[in-house]
Amino acid sequence: MAAAGGIVTMREDRASGTTAVIELLRAGASAPSSHNSQPWRLQWHHDAVEVHGDPDRRLEVADPDARELRLACGAALLNVRLAVRAQGRRAHTQLLPDPADRWFLGRVRPGSVLPASLWESELATAIPRRHTDRHPFDGRPLPAALRDQLARAAGRESCRLVFLTDARQRRELRELTARAHRQQRADPAFVAEWERWIGHPAREDDGLPREHAQRAPRADSAWRPRDFGDAVADTDRTAPPTGSGDDPTVAVVLSYDDGPLAHLRAGAAMQQVLLTATAHGVGSSFVAPPLEVAAVRDEVRALLGGVLWPQVVLRLGWGRPVHPTPRRRDTGA
Ligand SMILES: Cc1cc2nc3c(=O)[nH]c(=O)nc-3n(C[C@H](O)[C@H](O)[C@H](O)COP(=O)(O)O)c2cc1C
Repeated sequence: MAAAGGIVTMREDRASGTTAVIELLRAGASAPSSHNSQPWRLQWHHDAVEVHGDPDRRLEVADPDARELRLACGAALLNVRLAVRAQGRRAHTQLLPDPADRWFLGRVRPGSVLPASLWESELATAIPRRHTDRHPFDGRPLPAALRDQLARAAGRESCRLVFLTDARQRRELRELTARAHRQQRADPAFVAEWERWIGHPAREDDGLPREHAQRAPRADSAWRPRDFGDAVADTDRTAPPTGSGDDPTVAVVLSYDDGPLAHLRAGAAMQQVLLTATAHGVGSSFVAPPLEVAAVRDEVRALLGGVLWPQVVLRLGWGRPVHPTPRRRDTGA
């Protein structure tokens, strides 16, 4: 068995088979995760890629219910599915396949030959190109046709994508975001957890590196209270805060339920949206605080009609090139 940080592969006899399996595992590991915690174990077992949530990598304070862990693993499963399809195989997917093991979140088994459709190929190609883009976005709107496409992408995973266009709703969500962020920063347990993951000198291939670790909110954006100081060039940093430097499209992925299955589906929907955006040159990042504080999440839900469950708030806009964030290395053992 070959082990990797977070990735375990069974050795295969045929080199080509091994390469194909490694491609699938790498696709899974490219998924986004809160604090780049990479809260999964990916393994090739028998004839399928298995995705196991790793409770030791859960953010106990920011994510006590493992909702974000499941979103990340749902995104990893979607990546594996797309990678299987890009290899020209059917992708047979099971979510929560073992009722006795709550951390066994899903498996994808490559099946018989079936060429990928155009959109599947496009999204699979976008997997290694998608990176969280924390640059300010100007207010240029996304074309209506592209917004429809993003909404359809979420719909493929039985979720909804709602764009926040109403000025009052945007203002209220901004205020809820600021409140949640202040609450989290005032909690010593949250700060301690943050310091274990963000800018920690011992972390190389997970968490956010030191250069991402500026703690103070950037003055130019209410939508990026937690941008980790991002990896933008110094020229961007010296730009004076204008108070309106960041005017992104804001969209929320909503699910019809709020249990483990719904979280996995929402993670897949989130990733469908992110990859569709990447394929069209649109940058994206996350606004997690208002959904991490339970009482604030209830208010966000009420703000959006009170029926569906908000799972991810996304910032979208015309992006710039972004450096990739590290992933756990394949030790090749
Ligand atoms: C559920 C979730 C919440 C996230 N929340 C934030 C956030 O609040 N602020 C932020 O800058 N990035 C956030 N991220 C992005 C992660 O930091 C990012 O995915 C990780 O560092 C890996 O980098 P990559 O997305 O460029 O591959 C979030 C990601 C996920 C999946």
